[in-house]
Parts: sequence; C-alpha cells; structure tokens
Amino acid sequence: MEKIVSLCKRRGFVFLSSEIYGGFASCYDFGPLGVQMKNNIKESWWVEMTQIQENVVGLDSAILMSPKVWQASGHLTAGFADELIECKKCNRRFRYDQLEELTLKDIEEELEKEGTINIPEVLKSQGNEFRKKWRKCECGMIIKEGPRKFNLMMKTFVGPVEDEAAVTYLRAETCQGIYVNFNNILNTMRFKIPFGVAQIGKAFRNEITLGNFIYRTREFEQMEMQWFCHPQEADKFFDYWKEHRMKWYLGLGIKKENLRFKQVQKEELAHYARKAVDIEYKFPFGWKEIEGIHNRGDWDLSNHSKHSGQDLKYEGYYPYIIETSAGADRSFLTFLIDAFHEIKGGRTKTTKAVKEEEVVLKLDKKLAPIKIAVLPLVKNKPELVKKAKEVYELLKTHFVCQYDEVGSIGRRYRRMDEVGAPLALTIDFESLEKEDLTIRDRDTMGQERVKIEDLTEVLKEKLEN
Ligand code: GAP
Repeated sequence: MEKIVSLCKRRGFVFLSSEIYGGFASCYDFGPLGVQMKNNIKESWWVEMTQIQENVVGLDSAILMSPKVWQASGHLTAGFADELIECKKCNRRFRYDQLEELTLKDIEEELEKEGTINIPEVLKSQGNEFRKKWRKCECGMIIKEGPRKFNLMMKTFVGPVEDEAAVTYLRAETCQGIYVNFNNILNTMRFKIPFGVAQIGKAFRNEITLGNFIYRTREFEQMEMQWFCHPQEADKFFDYWKEHRMKWYLGLGIKKENLRFKQVQKEELAHYARKAVDIEYKFPFGWKEIEGIHNRGDWDLSNHSKHSGQDLKYEGYYPYIIETSAGADRSFLTFLIDAFHEIKGGRTKTTKAVKEEEVVLKLDKKLAPIKIAVLPLVKNKPELVKKAKEVYELLKTHFVCQYDEVGSIGRRYRRMDEVGAPLALTIDFESLEKEDLTIRDRDTMGQERVKIEDLTEVLKEKLEN
C-alpha cells in the first residue's frame, strides 16, 4: 500500500485534501491523472449500464433531499448506525467490530486486577457476557462500557437559520434519489417493468474508522443501478446482475484470482436488504468488499409510499429492487493495485537499469489516464521538437496525449510506463526524412514504425482493440 500511496502522490493521482493545513479527516483529492482515470472508470460503467444494457436509463438527482426521505428509508433510525466504542485512556473511537474479542485468559487477568474474588465462578456465570462486551483497545486499555449506536448520516443545515427545522442530511447512498423519482421515470420514459435506473454521484457517511488510503472515506462516489422487477423475477435478475457486475471488473483487466463473491449472512444484512452478495477484491490489507448486489425487495418503494402518501405501486404491486452498488473510489484503488507491477532490475536489457525497481502500471487501455505519449528523441534538435509538436497537435483532438521532452528517452518511457500510458510515440531523425515515427507498446516494449499520415487510424485501432 505504501508504494501505491507514494505513486499516487508522486505522479498526481491522489493528494491528501487540505494538505497545506496538514490534511483533513481522511479526505482526498484526485489530481490531474487521478481525475482522468476516475472519469474513465465512471464512463466505462455509465456506457455499460445506460447504453449497452437494455432498459436502463440515467439520472442525476440532488445530493440534498428532504429529510423525510431518510426517515422513510430507515437511515435515520437504528438501521444505519455502526456500533461505536470509545477508549477513555487514549480518547480514540473504534467501530466495535474492529477490535478483537478478549480471550477468557484476558478476562481472568482483568478480573484479577479488579480484585474479584471467586474468579472461576464469575467466569463461569458471566465469562461469555464479558467476552461479548469487553474489547481491548490498541493502546492496551480494556474497554468495558460496551458499544453504543452511532448514526452515520452527515447532518447539515439548509438556509440561514440553524435550528431543528432546517436540519437535513447529505445523502448516504445515491439510490434514494432514484426511488423518489420512480413515478417520474416510469411516466416520462413510458417504461414497463422490468427496467433500471443508473446514477453516479457523491455520497457521505460519518464513518467512525477510516484508513487504508481511499478505501473507506467520509466522502466518496457511488455508481449505483436500481433494477425494478416483478417479485417473482427478483431471484433470476439478482443472479443476472451479480454475474454481469463480476464480468465488468474482469473485462477491465482485474485478475480473476483477486476477485470473489461473498454471500452476506442474514445477521450482517443491511436494514433494507433481503439478500446480498458482495464482490470482494484481494487488497494488500485482505479480502474486502468493492461492490454490493442487493435484493432490496419492496422496502424502499413501500416505505416511500407510506411516508409520502404517493402511490409508488406498478399495476397494483410494489416492484422488487435489485441493486448493484459500486464505489468509484474503491474501484479506482482496485484497478490501480491490480495494474501495479514492480520489476526488479528493470525491464530493459540493452541499457543499464536506471532504477533498481521499475514500475509498470498495466492499466486497461480504456482506463489509462494518458493514452499516448509524444516524445521527440532529444530536445536540443529544434527540427525534432517541431515535428513532435506537430504530431501532438494532430492527435490531441482524438486522444488524451502528453507531450514530454525532458530527460533521456529511456527515462521518459519509464515515466510513461509508471502512469500506465499504453503507447509512446518517438519522433527521431528518420521521422524527418520518412514522415514516420515509432510506436512503443507499454507492456511488450515492442516498437513499430508507422507513417504519420496513417497514425490516427492505427492508434484508434490499437486503443480500441
Ligand atoms: N445503496 C447501497 C449501498 O450504499 P453499501 O454496501 O453501503 O451499499 C456500496 O455501499 C458501495 O459503496 C461499497 O461496496 C463501496 O464500494 C462504496 N462505499 C460504501 N461506503 C464507502 C466509504 N465509506 N468509502 C468509500 N466507498 C464506500
């Protein structure tokens, strides 16, 4: 992870938010290459959902909604709360499930410290209870208070008066904007069930514990699709979308062995879900969820009907909702980690390795932030620079290109490999005579000469296949 974080900062993918003030609450900014790559991820998801899939349309609903939405959805009640414990010694807060249970031996020692008499009997009668309730903090302190519920909704005020009447919340999931627009979409699109609505946007959660870089943050982006169907077809569509979403990650190059499904157990289901499967990725910090596929049943439409007084039934029944819910930032981290390759001693065998370790980001071409590097062989030959700039001008309206003339050509190739640019074009002395250049492939390092007049077509072919 350290290497990923360092690459992100060094090459302009991700910066700490408010860095000049020492950072802020695990918030991050996507830099020039990061925003480009995240946009590519979102674009790929959007095209897949709203263009390639049939009967799925897009929506961009407001982040701020009536607080009644969150009453109806169950997010303001116990449903959307984590269990929190607080250490009185080091003043840190933890999610209850993140600290390990104590062993009976730990409890015995603690009882001894407390001066408890008849420890074996106390252990026998209350041992299990203590084990459930007590946790050991990272500082060593035993926390005995047990957890309390902590709601994750981010509160804010709308308008100039900060009183209870002005309270609302930043959305905690983008999908609620879809449910409250159910009738609008049904009527304006003249849809019949089944159909889907896709949305990409920011969501906010007052997470208790963060960490692991951009894996869990308080402000993040979701890519969610809600599929409205007949209850009897819910299982069939659940399986369809589950497989479909797995294929999306595989299709964009994530290694199969690093992905798996995890069936969510009944007691771990979110308050709205009847059934759920997570897609998990093997991060350096363990297998972790990157996307959830949920059967939300009629939870959302029936609750919004009840609370709003509007009839959100379709032909007399509440459609069931199958949801696919992915994080754009988590996907970003996943693609980055999976593409990261470090080659000891470097790949070039013809020249001495410039660095002991060479990094190649083998990103799928669709996701790479820079598609093409345009490089004059050397910068102190004006005719080469002029030609290279002409090539750059020719290409820039078709592809995301970067012109670079600083440093040796070997170094520049490695800089481009490190940010995952799939192709690098080199303009050399032969180019001046023959009106051609070399195209270098990031992964194979193979080079071929191509006429400049054919260049756009050749590059399109290479980047699209
Ligand atoms: N609408 C359903 C829903 O929001 P979720 O499992 O709570 O379900 C779905 O979240 C996805 O959103 C997660 O799999 C993850 O990719 C992303 N996500 C959730 N909380 C996040 C956080 N604090 N930071 C970054 N991504 C998060």
